[in-house]
Amino acid sequence: MKLALVTGGSGGIGAACCQALADAGFRVAIHYRSGKENAEKLQQTLPDSFLIQADLSTEQGIDQVVDLIKEAGDIEVLVNNAGMTADGPLLRAKYENFDQIVTVNMKSTWYLTRKIARLMIKKKHGRVINISSVVGSTGNYGQTLYGMTKAAINNFTRSAAIELADYNVLINSIAPGFIDTKMTSDLPQEAREAILSQIPLKRMGKPEDVAKMVRFLATEGDYCTGSVFHVNGGMYGGG
Ligand SMILES: NC(=O)c1ccc[n+]([C@@H]2O[C@H](COP(=O)([O-])OP(=O)(O)OC[C@H]3O[C@@H](n4cnc5c(N)ncnc54)[C@H](OP(=O)(O)O)[C@@H]3O)[C@@H](O)[C@H]2O)c1
Repeated sequence: MKLALVTGGSGGIGAACCQALADAGFRVAIHYRSGKENAEKLQQTLPDSFLIQADLSTEQGIDQVVDLIKEAGDIEVLVNNAGMTADGPLLRAKYENFDQIVTVNMKSTWYLTRKIARLMIKKKHGRVINISSVVGSTGNYGQTLYGMTKAAINNFTRSAAIELADYNVLINSIAPGFIDTKMTSDLPQEAREAILSQIPLKRMGKPEDVAKMVRFLATEGDYCTGSVFHVNGGMYGGG
């Protein structure tokens, strides 16, 4: 059975990605850090899926994930979805805010891809899908750090695509707009209304909207690599 790993499967978008890949016939490795209950509930509904617990902000955590994947079989799809935000105006930011968000969002994506791509190269087949954000292209008030990490993920995607193309390992980013998950649940009503006014489709996205694009890139999209796919209800068209 084809094997797919989704990081942050305990979260909103990650869980929808696990579901979409299981529906497409993958055996899914559901990674989580602290959301054991969510991850376990999801695992019970997805045939043949299994759980991997790890903190991806450490090298040891990443190595743990890779070891378990090696034991499970040949990996075809990696979805680098785990991420965090640390919002606040630049003028109030503290020096130490930088390291955590850069480590969780950027370093883990870069290093896990490096390790998993080595496994994919042996089979001359693989798909890596990085979840970035519309904010990585547009910027946003209070998200200087978050937006910077997501822009970096898009650039990483482009360079890695060039390096991995010879091995038939394709790598793309998906840049979601504002999606209804825990990450956006604390937005004050005013901010939510301001966001909605910028979305031509007049609604927040659902995790499934992102997961459908993940499924496409995992199973179709044979001529797509190094690209950023925008899933945002029309608020930004790329270019
Ligand atoms: N929601 C949006 O509007 C939106 C828009 C654009 C992009 N995104 C991106 O989409 C991805 C998923 O976000 P979401 O909205 O689904 O948020 P979420 O529900 O808060 O999920 C975040 C996930 O990341 C995991 N995670 C956080 N820090 C981690 C660490 N140090 N090690 C391992 N895992 C860690 C969490 O694991 P545990 O809960 O198990 O600790 C959780 O599964 C993120 O990369 C986010 O930046 C979200």
